[in-house]
Amino acid sequence: MIIDILTLFPEMFNTIFEQSIIKRAKELDKVVINIHNFRDYSLDSHKKVDDTPYGGGAGMVLTPQPIFDAVEDLRKDYSKVILLTPSGNVYKQKMAYDLSKEKHLIIICGHYEGFDERITTIADLQISIGDYVLTGGEIPSMVLVDSIVRLLPGVINEESHIEDSFNNNLLDYPTYTKPRIYKGLEVPEVLLSGNHEQIKKYRYEESLKKTKQIRPDLLEK
Ligand code: ADE
Repeated sequence: MIIDILTLFPEMFNTIFEQSIIKRAKELDKVVINIHNFRDYSLDSHKKVDDTPYGGGAGMVLTPQPIFDAVEDLRKDYSKVILLTPSGNVYKQKMAYDLSKEKHLIIICGHYEGFDERITTIADLQISIGDYVLTGGEIPSMVLVDSIVRLLPGVINEESHIEDSFNNNLLDYPTYTKPRIYKGLEVPEVLLSGNHEQIKKYRYEESLKKTKQIRPDLLEK
């Protein structure tokens, strides 16, 4: 998979993709991640990328030209162009699975007070990572990349994500490791039993219980 990220703050990405699973995925050639400063595409003599909003209002708005030109330069006929915005569809694990099947993603990080609405016409998808407003699309783009790259075949053991939270609309079951008793807190007996049927049943019931308590909305789906 190739991921091109369009941002005004490329330095924000300096360490995040050089650690842990994403670093490994890159080393294994499962993903290539390119960070582009879309200011470089500005045709303005001062490399301006924003302007005041028509009709008045606070703040500056990203102009269409640099982003249109950057996308045109990078887009292939099979690319998926994603615009990150708090007004987009709320991101879910199912979307991460679907996007992990794509060959090429172009992710546009909005910034400042917003972007010219015409930019939405070049996006295949508009995504919000949740009902809160961040200062820009950089952190949301990191969220997308992390959640997608770990699902690429061969990046992590497939069993690990089959049992992730949100598969089957259930939260993950609780897990424990050594020691057996820590500060008086004991590991549930069933996990020590070696009885795989019982363990499977326990884990399913715990998932269900946790989901009912914390995210009953998932069970309604
Ligand atoms: N940009 C600012 N807030 C955002 C959010 N919640 N999701 C995606 N992009 C954003």
